[in-house]
Amino acid sequence: MDLYDVMRTTFAAREFTDDDVPDDAVYRVLDNARFAPSGGNRQGWKVVVVRNAATKQKLGELCWPAMRIAVAQLQAGEVYWQTIEPTSVDTETAAVDESLPITLPILEHMEQVPVVLVVAVDLRLVASMDKNLDRVGVVSGASIYPLAWNILLGFRNEGYGGALTTLLASQEPEVQKLLGLEDYEAVAAMLVVGRPVKQLSKLSRKPVEEFAFVERADGDPFTA
Ligand SMILES: Cc1cc2nc3c(=O)[nH]c(=O)nc-3n(C[C@H](O)[C@H](O)[C@H](O)COP(=O)(O)O)c2cc1C
Repeated sequence: MDLYDVMRTTFAAREFTDDDVPDDAVYRVLDNARFAPSGGNRQGWKVVVVRNAATKQKLGELCWPAMRIAVAQLQAGEVYWQTIEPTSVDTETAAVDESLPITLPILEHMEQVPVVLVVAVDLRLVASMDKNLDRVGVVSGASIYPLAWNILLGFRNEGYGGALTTLLASQEPEVQKLLGLEDYEAVAAMLVVGRPVKQLSKLSRKPVEEFAFVERADGDPFTA
């Protein structure tokens, strides 16, 4: 596929056919995705390819507490999991509140997802340039999310689809135990992958003029 076509049509696929995603396709995708950049080219990434049904099911369950908190915050009219405004939600209670719906059905049937890739990064190898700032860190992710996104672009190019989720991160110690990761290996993403039931071709995104500005963030919108 043309690169721009891939970029414009790699949507978050959450419903899959029963088609398998064979190991040779997964390997090909990883073999191309590995050319992603990372700080100092240290490539501190690890990808766990999960096909075992019980493990997939458990990974789904580990997403539920974070999902319930998100749902409670949505119901309170908040942007879920943001760190700037204090939340009005009692998150400890919400995390275990079984009356709150799981809004992603795929998480309840994870064993049916053809393949799940858990993407982790070795924090011993990551330069977290924003670690002394008084806000949540974002820079560390720059050494792992280019790989994660390359993987999803690669699957699109192979005719598959997937979604990047970060819900697992809130249960990181449990995930580390389940998958044999070390405590310095951060759980960056869980990619659910399969053959999408439907291929979307028109994604809803802001135009360039709404997010790019000339010279200063309060400058004129950037145009061609
Ligand atoms: C950091 C991040 C976290 C995300 N978490 C989830 C998630 O938990 N569940 C999910 O279904 N999709 C998740 N997504 C996918 C987004 O919902 C999706 O990219 C966005 O809604 C755009 O959808 P589209 O590409 O299909 O237009 C996540 C994406 C990113 C980048």
